[in-house]
Amino acid sequence: MEGENFISSSKQKADELIEVSLRPNTLDEYIGQNKIKESIKIYIEAAKNRDDALDHVLLFGPPGLGKTTLAHIVANELGSQIRITSGPAISHAADLAAILTNLGKNDVLFIDEIHRLNRSVEEVLYPAMEDFALDFVVGKGPSAKSVRIKLQPFTLIGATTRAGMLTGPLRDRFGVLGRLEMYDEKDLSTILKRSAKILGIEIEEDATLEIARRSRGTPRIANRLLKRVRDYAQVKGEGIITLEMAQKALKMMEIDSIGLDSVDHRLLNAIIDKFGGGPVGLDTLSASTGEEATTIEDVYEPYLMQLGFIARTNRGRIALPRAYEHLGKKLDEKKASELEKLKKVQDN
Ligand SMILES: Nc1ncnc2c1ncn2[C@@H]1O[C@H](COP(=O)(O)OP(=O)(O)OP(=O)(O)O)[C@@H](O)[C@H]1O
Ligand SMILES: [Mg+2]
Repeated sequence: MEGENFISSSKQKADELIEVSLRPNTLDEYIGQNKIKESIKIYIEAAKNRDDALDHVLLFGPPGLGKTTLAHIVANELGSQIRITSGPAISHAADLAAILTNLGKNDVLFIDEIHRLNRSVEEVLYPAMEDFALDFVVGKGPSAKSVRIKLQPFTLIGATTRAGMLTGPLRDRFGVLGRLEMYDEKDLSTILKRSAKILGIEIEEDATLEIARRSRGTPRIANRLLKRVRDYAQVKGEGIITLEMAQKALKMMEIDSIGLDSVDHRLLNAIIDKFGGGPVGLDTLSASTGEEATTIEDVYEPYLMQLGFIARTNRGRIALPRAYEHLGKKLDEKKASELEKLKKVQDN
């Protein structure tokens, strides 16, 4: 199991095949995220009634929460073709121009990791998004002329884990902004039941809840844990996933009662023990734990922040009382009020 990381929310090779089979195809099958779902449903219906393209949609949130899935669903609900690409895959403005001119009326263009588009490519997008047009300069010097080519109306769906890294002009051109939230236990357990059914796995209700509780609010992790627990139950039990089987399997994977793994523990222990609870800068934390800064930021911190275990302040990361509590570490009053003050400054 070299290099396998059970709880990383980023996509791993083994996820790919299974994700396609577990991916819901309609809004009704898409569990949770009610806020986005309700509004998108209305916008889709309105666009269809007018025979217009749906407004451009930006989906953002941590990995594995269902951005790609939702993009496919939107295209499906619109009855449109979807063309899929990603920020790093489009290196030249001409590549994007070629993609855009090939889109049909009201098609969906999905650009994953849209924060990684380079600037010259991004500039092609501006008139395309705004006026469904491409602008070219033909000729040189005084005789140079600007030529405009009309495109079919289309919908751009952009996905990013880093909404903060989008440039202002690009961000402003999206009509619909959808922030994906972490899922609660109930929704995750519904997702797990659905996945178990598709994969032909027998699982008991309380086992579903146990896995849900340890999935870091993330469907991708829930589905991955389900498969590993299934393997364990097959070898060590009767194949049926009972609560006991689930607990034993998760223990073997070193996933604690709330879904934290050894890396989370390493991060928290570092902040608390090496840096006195913080604040500690991201790069320092990265150097002292051997985890990449971007991995800490994108994969580990979102859940730790959601739990109220850490906070990002402008002076660095700090651990919060709940983290001390969970790890059974002592926090003296002076330190507690110091951390509280740092957090307050940040919240304002
Ligand atoms: N709302 C949902 N209901 C049911 N299953 C879901 C839902 N959201 C996500 N999933 C499951 O989780 C898997 C991961 O979702 P998806 O690939 O869409 O995440 P993502 O946000 O695009 O992640 P990344 O940022 O890594 O690209 C999907 O294959 C699907 O099986
Ligand atoms: Mg994705």
